[in-house]
Formats: sequence, structure tokens, C-alpha cells
Amino acid sequence: MSIIILGIESSCDDTSAAIIKDGLLLSNVIASQKVHEEYGGVVPELASRAHQQNIVPVVDSAIKRAGIDKKDISAIAFTRGPGLLGSLLVGTSFAKGLSLGLRIPIVDVNHLHGHVLSHFIRQKQDDIVPEYPFLCLLISGGNSQIILVKGYNDMEVLGQTIDDAAGEAFDKCAKVMGLPYPGGPHIDRLAKEGDSSRFKFAKPHIPGYNYSFSGLKTSFLYTLRDAKKLNPNFIEENMTDLAASLQKTIIDILLDKLKKAVEATGVKQVAIGGGVSANSGVRQAIADFCDKRGIKAFIPERAFTTDNAAMVAIAGYYKYLSGDFCHYDEVPFARTTI
Ligand code: KG4
Repeated sequence: MSIIILGIESSCDDTSAAIIKDGLLLSNVIASQKVHEEYGGVVPELASRAHQQNIVPVVDSAIKRAGIDKKDISAIAFTRGPGLLGSLLVGTSFAKGLSLGLRIPIVDVNHLHGHVLSHFIRQKQDDIVPEYPFLCLLISGGNSQIILVKGYNDMEVLGQTIDDAAGEAFDKCAKVMGLPYPGGPHIDRLAKEGDSSRFKFAKPHIPGYNYSFSGLKTSFLYTLRDAKKLNPNFIEENMTDLAASLQKTIIDILLDKLKKAVEATGVKQVAIGGGVSANSGVRQAIADFCDKRGIKAFIPERAFTTDNAAMVAIAGYYKYLSGDFCHYDEVPFARTTI
């Protein structure tokens, strides 16, 4: 009999539902929340309320698009954390309620595991997926981690940021440039037209595999502040070169530690995930990095870089196969790593 998993993701500001049948993706519906744009960041209370409005139509449309009936679902996988507690509570409560109604089990998924396992989402039977062990560079607005992935439920964080995440570095520097939130995609767009060797910003010198981006943020801020004293139009006149130089610095910082981890572990496969893995410069740099070393690169489709339920459903699918279910007493958690 087929195994059909309904995945639900509601950890931040995207309400998403997906259906996976025997490991193959049938649907992945995402409702993004526009309500936060005018505030320059996600407002948790508004996010929870929007999830409440979105969750029923989003799940309904994922089931319809998959061409299945809700009675066909074997289990419901939901993001239990980390994330915004109010947002997580909506997805968790909905999953519990529906599972009681349908008399099927629930499977809790760590959001970060989901990002890593997004490389196992198959859209066609012959899609190539990673083999364990592999390294995953998980880069988003809240995390920057190098993870040694030994199994679907066996992941070791080799290094992570000690301050800002890579996405935060993009967003905070973009804000200084007067760009809208989230700034990452704007930097990406502008960087394509700019000269990345024009400006130099600070790079961290910390031992091991950990990252730090707060020094870069400060050096970016001071460079712009000093330059504006001499030329009030400095930012507007140098938009593309600033974006390209900033993006290049972030990529250099990311690759420096990744290189160390690849050399130390001897892995033959590297994957990237999280919102920042949508960045064109990062994607190209990872492809080149792996090419040069004869390593296989796994670069996710852009739809799977940001928060989505397909990754929750695939992570839930593997847990379901090993009978790893969740009890109704389990509650969402706001923080954790892997
Ligand atoms: O994974 P994600 O959607 O949300 C969480 O942080 O959980 O990541 C969002 C982050 C934001 O910081 C955003 O600016 C960044 O990913 N981002 C990008 C790009 N697209 C999204 N950063 C650089 N270039 C992009 N194209």
C-alpha cells in the first residue's frame, strides 16, 4: 500500500502544505504573508493570525492539487520547531486536530532537518538524491551551520554562527543601503551588475568551523557612514558595486569554513539549503567549489530554499518509515540547533 504524507510548515511567515506519496512530491502549496512588509521584519503576532486564516485553504488546496482524498493520507508531518511559538502552535494544533479526525498518526519534524532533507524530495522517480554522509551548508535568516549529515535523523553540527546569520548580514547591510526587507534578494539582483572587487570589508578570524558576520556588518556600516560624509549620494551612486562586494565577502566567509570541513571530513558530496541558498552568487560559488574538487554539489530548486512543507513531508516520510511517531503531549519549541 502507498504511503502518503501530508506535510505542514508554519514556523515563520509562510503557511505551507505538501503531499508526498512513496517519496514522490505530488503538491507543495505556499501562502506567503505580505502583512509584514511595511514593518521591515516579521511581526510574530500578525504571523500567527495569518497562519490561522491560511491553514485550512492551504491544506485543502495541497490535497486537491495532489489529486488524492484526505482519507488516503497515512500520517501528518508538521514542523514542531525551531521558529516562532505562536506560528508553530497553529500548525501543530491543526496537525493534531486533523490526525484525531482522520485517526492517523502525527510525525514531528525539526525545521532544520527539513531544510537538510529537502535534497531528498523527488519529483521524478529517477531524481538523484545525496548518499550519506554528506555536508550541508545551511544558510538562512536565522542560521548559518555546517552540518555533517550521517542519516535522516543523525546530523552533527560542525560549526555555526556565533552572532548574526548569513541572511541577517544580507538583510542588515541592505537596510543600511535603504533597500526594502528582506534585503537578500535585492543584493543578489544588484550584485549581478556590480564590480565585486571595488570595496573591501572585514572578514572574521575565528578558529574552527564557526562563523561570524557581525564584524562584516559593522565594517559595512562604517564604510558607508564615512563615505556619505564626503559624498551624500555615495550609496545611490555605488549601489551595484556595494552589493557585489558585500555578496562576495559573505561568500568568501562561507566558503572558507566549508573548505576546512570538506578537507577534514573527506566527504564527496556537499549540499546547500535555507533562504540564502537562493542567492545566485552562492549557488555559482558552491558549484565551482565542488567542480574544482571533483565533489558532487546538491543545489536545491529555488522553491525548496525557503520555508516549504515539501521538506517537512519528506522528513516526516523517513520518520514514518522507521515508526518514529509523535505523541499528542509534545508541544512546539522555539529554539534548537539540529
Ligand atoms: O530560510 P528563510 O526563508 O527563512 C528563515 O530564516 O527561516 O531565509 C530567509 C533569508 C532572508 O535573510 C533573506 O534575505 C535571505 O534568506 N534570502 C537571500 C536570497 N533570497 C532569500 N539572501 C541572498 N540572496 C537571495 N537571493
